[in-house]
Amino acid sequence: MRLIFLGPPGAGKGTQAKLLTERYGIPQLSTGDMLRSAVAQQSEVGKRAKAVMDAGQLVSDDIVNEIVSDRIDAPDCAKGFILDGYPRTVPQAIALDRMLEEKGLKLDAVIELKVDEAALVRRMENRVAETVAAGGTVRSDDNPEAFRRRLEEYREKTAPLSQHYARTGQLKTVDGMADVDTVTAEIERVLA
Ligand code: AP5
Repeated sequence: MRLIFLGPPGAGKGTQAKLLTERYGIPQLSTGDMLRSAVAQQSEVGKRAKAVMDAGQLVSDDIVNEIVSDRIDAPDCAKGFILDGYPRTVPQAIALDRMLEEKGLKLDAVIELKVDEAALVRRMENRVAETVAAGGTVRSDDNPEAFRRRLEEYREKTAPLSQHYARTGQLKTVDGMADVDTVTAEIERVLA
C-alpha cells in the first residue's frame, strides 16, 4: 500500500499516518520529521532548512525530492509507505510521479483531510499547551506568526495538488473535523 496524506498544517496527517502504520505494517515517511531531524543533527540539509522552517515557509523542492527518493529505496518501504507532508507543491508531485515510475512503483491513494482554519489554529494551540505541560520542547514553527505563514504556503502551493490528484483519479477526501477515531474509520472505509 502506497499512500499520500494531504492537508493543511494541523489537519491530522501525522496522527492518522501513525495509526495506519500500525494497521498496514508500512512506515510513515514524514518530510517534516526528516527535516527536523536534519536540523537537530546540524547536517548540511538541516543548516539550509532551519531558517526557512522556522519562518513557516517551504524548504526547496530539490532538497525534499532527494530525501524522499532515497528514503523510499530503504528495505522497510518494500511493502509500501505513507507519505506525510510530501508532496507539497505541484513540482514535487510531478517529481514524485517520475520517481515512482522510474522505480516501477504505483500509488494506491491520496487522502486529503479537510479541516476548517479556525480548528487548525486551535489544534496548534492545544499542541503547544500539551507540549509545555509535559515539559517538552515546542516546535519552533508552532507560534501564531509561523503558523499563519504555514497556512498561506498551504493555500498557495499545496492546495492545488487536490486538482492534480483528482485528475489522476487517486484523490479521496475525508472530513478531518471529527474525532481521531472517527477520522481513522472513515479513512479505512475509503481505502477498503
Ligand atoms: P510538517 O512537519 O509536515 O508540518 P505540517 O504540515 O505543518 O503539519 P503538522 O505536523 O503541524 O500537522 P499534521 O497535519 O501532521 O497534524 P498532527 O497529526 O500533527 O512540516 C513542517 C515544515 O517542514 C514545513 O512548514 C516546511 O518548512 C517543512 N516541510 C515539510 N515537508 C515539506 C515539503 N514536502 N516541502 C517543503 N517543505 C517541507 O495534528 C496536529 C494536532 O492536532 C496534534 O496535537 C493532534 O493531537 C491534534 N489532532 C489530530 N487529529 C485531531 C482530531 N481529529 N481532532 C482533534 N485534534 C486532532
